[in-house]
Amino acid sequence: MPAAPPPRRRYAVVGTGARAELYTSALVGEHADVANLVALADVNPLRLAAHNRRLAELGAAPLPAYPAGEFAAMLATERVESVIVSTVDATHDGYIVAALAAGCDVITEKPMTTDEERCRRILAAARSSPGSVVVVTFNYRYNPLHERVRELLAGGEIGEVASVHFEWLLDVRHGADYFRRWHRDKASSGGLLVHKASHHFDLVNWWLDADPVEVYAAGRLFFYGPDAGRRHGYARDYDRAHGSPAAQDDPFALHLADNPGLRALYLDAEGADGYHRDRNVFAPGVTIEDDMAVLVRYSTGASMSYHLTAYAPWEGYRIAFNGSRGRLEVEVVENDHVAPAAAGAVKGRSAALHGVEAAAENGFARILVRPFWAPPREVPVRGLSRRGHGGADSRMLAALLRPDLPADPLGRRATHVEGARALLVGLAANRSIATGDRVRVADLGVDAR
Ligand SMILES: NC(=O)c1ccc[n+]([C@@H]2O[C@H](COP(=O)([O-])OP(=O)(O)OC[C@H]3O[C@@H](n4cnc5c(N)ncnc54)[C@H](O)[C@@H]3O)[C@@H](O)[C@H]2O)c1
Repeated sequence: MPAAPPPRRRYAVVGTGARAELYTSALVGEHADVANLVALADVNPLRLAAHNRRLAELGAAPLPAYPAGEFAAMLATERVESVIVSTVDATHDGYIVAALAAGCDVITEKPMTTDEERCRRILAAARSSPGSVVVVTFNYRYNPLHERVRELLAGGEIGEVASVHFEWLLDVRHGADYFRRWHRDKASSGGLLVHKASHHFDLVNWWLDADPVEVYAAGRLFFYGPDAGRRHGYARDYDRAHGSPAAQDDPFALHLADNPGLRALYLDAEGADGYHRDRNVFAPGVTIEDDMAVLVRYSTGASMSYHLTAYAPWEGYRIAFNGSRGRLEVEVVENDHVAPAAAGAVKGRSAALHGVEAAAENGFARILVRPFWAPPREVPVRGLSRRGHGGADSRMLAALLRPDLPADPLGRRATHVEGARALLVGLAANRSIATGDRVRVADLGVDAR
């Protein structure tokens, strides 16, 4: 007689916004043979209901939907084994800690959290729950291009790495979107050096197999916000786009009512929490930077110069590794411009999952090895996709949800410790911007071992 399949693992998702759709779709769809989504929680009952309606469209039965305040009761009642945390960044810690206290495993979205105190709380909770596993979903690690870089560096292709030069550009569509949403508030997102760059800082920690030691940064709000908007002639006089005549032809405006997914998830859910997802990027209240330069020294002696620009004409990144046997260069153009017709649009059904569907504009991805005394050689990359962050999202889901997959020789699965190490670069950079001083990571008082 064939052996009975193992019981399906019981999952709950807290935070049922745009990103949660990736997880809930996978749990009720492709991975439903190994996973059982048993409950949802959020502070907004209307968004919970919208999420359940979407799951019904996928053929799933409605799920018990809990107010966020009943999270602990939900874990007990629904006998949850694993929690997926996809709430606003500054609220991750409360759910991670409560889930660990209830004996659950945790899969949390990045950034793991937004400040030192919250990070200490998570690390302490994880230490007191050695039987539980915390995974931080650094999906960029699962991009085939990024995996190839890891293999090349670990294989000694360019010898010992002395330095990294890393530039990431967010265009005036995707970059602008951070300035319409809760991300514009540093207390909610930690700013882009935490919210966005934690992906990049994690990649470098992983690629170099090194810990950050010292950070210096400079950053400012150069493009968005009311002062810069007026100075550069882009500002329009409205607070949120919906219902504002001044937003009608503004290329920076997002029109929620034009997109059924955005309407259901945000516009029709405003009655419950008053959250506006379509703020004017030039309206007051932006407390994050849009132009940031960071210098990092690592435990291996390597250094990195990094720049994040959130108002670029095109989207993508360039990374160069200088080594003792040559140089490795990565160039990715996700879209070479923002088409005027799509300037204020977002992509996909929910249209809120930026980067999840590559834009229609032209792009390419290339890895080049430049040895000494020889012509450059392009390294082929297999499996790159135009969808889901280069195909990373679906590969990550399979790796995290399926117990039947082979071991992970590249070590892509990031724990709370790696979540903290990525975060520490952004936190140190934020502190450096605030004080003007060089910051030693050890002085942040977070023991990420
Ligand atoms: N890895 C990636 O590529 C990627 C992409 C997008 C988002 N994310 C991450 O996913 C998370 C969610 O982002 P999003 O784009 O879905 O945002 P969103 O605004 O669409 O969703 C956030 C959800 O959290 C809920 N929420 C707010 N405060 C809460 C609280 N105290 N308790 C419970 N729920 C609360 C909101 O009601 C909303 O439903 C963030 O941490 C973000 O950084 C990661």
